[in-house]
Amino acid sequence: MLATKAISEEIQDLKRDRRAILLAHHYQDSEVQDLADAIGDSLELARAAQKFEGDVIVFCGVWFMAETAKILNPSRIVVVPDKDAGCSLVDSCSAQQVRAFRKRYPDHLVVSYINTSADVKAESDIVCTSRNAVSVVNSLPVDRPVLFLPDINLGNYVKKETGRENMKIWQGACIVHATFAARKLAQARADHPNALVASHPECPQDILRMSDFIGSTSSIIDWCVHHDAREYIVMTESGVTHSLQRRAPGKTFHFIPNDHCNCSECPHMRKNTLEKLRGCLETLSPRVELSADIMERARLPIERMLAVR
Ligand code: 13P
Ligand code: SF4
Repeated sequence: MLATKAISEEIQDLKRDRRAILLAHHYQDSEVQDLADAIGDSLELARAAQKFEGDVIVFCGVWFMAETAKILNPSRIVVVPDKDAGCSLVDSCSAQQVRAFRKRYPDHLVVSYINTSADVKAESDIVCTSRNAVSVVNSLPVDRPVLFLPDINLGNYVKKETGRENMKIWQGACIVHATFAARKLAQARADHPNALVASHPECPQDILRMSDFIGSTSSIIDWCVHHDAREYIVMTESGVTHSLQRRAPGKTFHFIPNDHCNCSECPHMRKNTLEKLRGCLETLSPRVELSADIMERARLPIERMLAVR
């Protein structure tokens, strides 16, 4: 506890010296979230990255999120505490594959979930996050066929919500959400009959069918905070507990271990520790470096998304 306090104070001093802003996703360890200037889901953090003043963005999240911050702030230094903080969805789709698809289906619009590399975004027409994916797809002309990539579960959810028939969906998946099992959720509902179920749209369709609410991490938190119910089963990464307990102290939240790691923590997100955070402020590395060409091409589909209401 004392060590955590000491290191947290060092990080605050370094942040001031470096004129740095610290952005943290809800899936970060709570002591990392406590040091953040903004905590949010991927859409909120992309917007926050555009707003701040300072020289350095320390992105406590995964690499693709930091790339997005860099693309929106090309003249600023963007660092991530751990360079290996990746994402199984990013790994499921390469720019080369998207180019091959476009060659074969030149009439399709490519909608890329923000959980993609900058190279893939550069090949895309528009980006979306879990919070705005339905609105983004609804903003596209109905007569144009769409490729939604790379998350199969979010893609299926969007297809259902938009009623869009002419939509192909990539086969990527999140190792955390896609391995939540319906049988465990059914057991949890039996164990907690008064609990409502709130799920992230990266969960499989059978989980989503059993849910009372489906939304991004911040949307799940807001819904649980404002609803009258006292008890919830939350089908996303357990880092959201920190905001849930702070904002809804009298309520009870249950998390279900997935079949991947028998926990509900993202192994990539959790690579960012306080020690590594201090280290990256000291050395200003690992640093996100992208070519001017990729940044320019990837910025357009991100800005198109930010313009969608
Ligand atoms: P959010 O859009 O809710 O931030 O989700 C991002 C993510 O990586 C979920 O696994
Ligand atoms: Fe990627 Fe899943 Fe981790 Fe989110 S929770 S960063 S989608 S691996």
